[in-house]
Amino acid sequence: MDKIVIHGGERLVGEVTISGSKNATLPIFASSLLAEGENRLHGVPDLKDVKTICEVLKNLRVKIARGKGGDYLLDSTDLIGHEAPYNLVKTMRASILVLGPLVARTKRALISLPGGCAIGARPINLHLEGLEKLGAEIQLRHGYIEAKTKGLRGADICLDVPTVTGTENLMMAAALAKGETVIENAAMEPEVVELAEVLNKMGANISGAGSSIIRIKGTRRLMATEHTIIPDRIEAGTFMVAAGVTNGNIHIRNCDFEHMEAVVNKLREAGIEILREDDGARVIGNKRIKSVDVKTLPYPGFPTDMQAQIMVLMTIAKGLSVISETIFENRFIHVGELRRMGARIKVEGNRAIINGVKGLSGAPVMATDLRASASLVLAGLAAEGETEVSRVYHLDRGYDKLEEKLANLGAHIRRVKA
Ligand code: EPU
Repeated sequence: MDKIVIHGGERLVGEVTISGSKNATLPIFASSLLAEGENRLHGVPDLKDVKTICEVLKNLRVKIARGKGGDYLLDSTDLIGHEAPYNLVKTMRASILVLGPLVARTKRALISLPGGCAIGARPINLHLEGLEKLGAEIQLRHGYIEAKTKGLRGADICLDVPTVTGTENLMMAAALAKGETVIENAAMEPEVVELAEVLNKMGANISGAGSSIIRIKGTRRLMATEHTIIPDRIEAGTFMVAAGVTNGNIHIRNCDFEHMEAVVNKLREAGIEILREDDGARVIGNKRIKSVDVKTLPYPGFPTDMQAQIMVLMTIAKGLSVISETIFENRFIHVGELRRMGARIKVEGNRAIINGVKGLSGAPVMATDLRASASLVLAGLAAEGETEVSRVYHLDRGYDKLEEKLANLGAHIRRVKA
């Protein structure tokens, strides 16, 4: 397995362009199952997870052609498959996003049930209960979700928690249901808004996305559309922290400030200067990082996907900070590895108490989750000496050319092929 080797201590300076959002791309690719014709998507990031969703869709007989850069054509006019097998779903839980559109379009789906994951149990009960309300019959057998329907019809669905992919799955299913669906306590993430926009371009009638109540008036047919994926707010946030931990000065292009308020405010509170520029942000580090407390929350709160990264910043801040993780029950996988690099962190339940140290020291580390792995790369950039991050495949799932982008900013970073 590949490793990333970092020689820390370099100040990162220069320009970086953020890629398309992973968590916007995955549901938008799944939404191509709903429409007839050729969907044209631009700005798609080059990621392992995108390859996986392509495999899932190809298995359903969607025709996919990849053009130059991040251009893709997806055509599901002649959709005939209905199965997402175990070998694909086990590599990417977000494969569950094909469930809603498949049931809506072909009235039938057989999807491997995603199991637990490194960061938590991650149940999908709300996806299934919502689909049942819409008129799907669901059975769990031999590790698979078997769903069928004589035809979906609109319903009132109130989610116990604002699940992101759950909201997306139900919104896609409801787009082809008969009558009106109302999703209450819906997720408000920018990626949900983006999906609603794509569905509306396909001819759906969705309002309220971005608020906690989404209304979907079902339509009989949806037609393919063209769309450019929004920038990845978590990748942008990760580079902002990279500027912070290296006392750098980075111009971050293609980043949407509107989607990053909670992250920008926290980083500013920690003493990092963030200036808004036409196409993104300029981020200027500070030798004296201040400790701040962070609590992860659904959007517009501080994203759980940035929790590990800001923790690295806090390991070298002055004073004590408390990070509370309220979304996933096991998302402190990075703590043990950061301790190996000299960080002083104590975990009590869902809170990590971090006592800032003068500096981190490089060490061999690894993590079993995407954002935890990104945090170890950030720690390696900040640390004195050499850090070797193994299990790089987690990073490849969600960061487009991370080491290349960091090297362009002056980091001493290289990939060692297995
Ligand atoms: N939940 C339930 N029942 C459900 C669904 C969710 O109890 O049926 C709970 C979860 O256990 C969790 C909370 O609801 O406690 C929120 O989970 P959510 O369903 O919103 O997470 P997700 O949709 O599976 C997406 C992102 C994650 C991101 C979370 C939270 C995608 C493809 N994935 O996951 O991204 O952490 O929302 O914002 O959009 C990542 O990119 O690294 C990543 C993990």
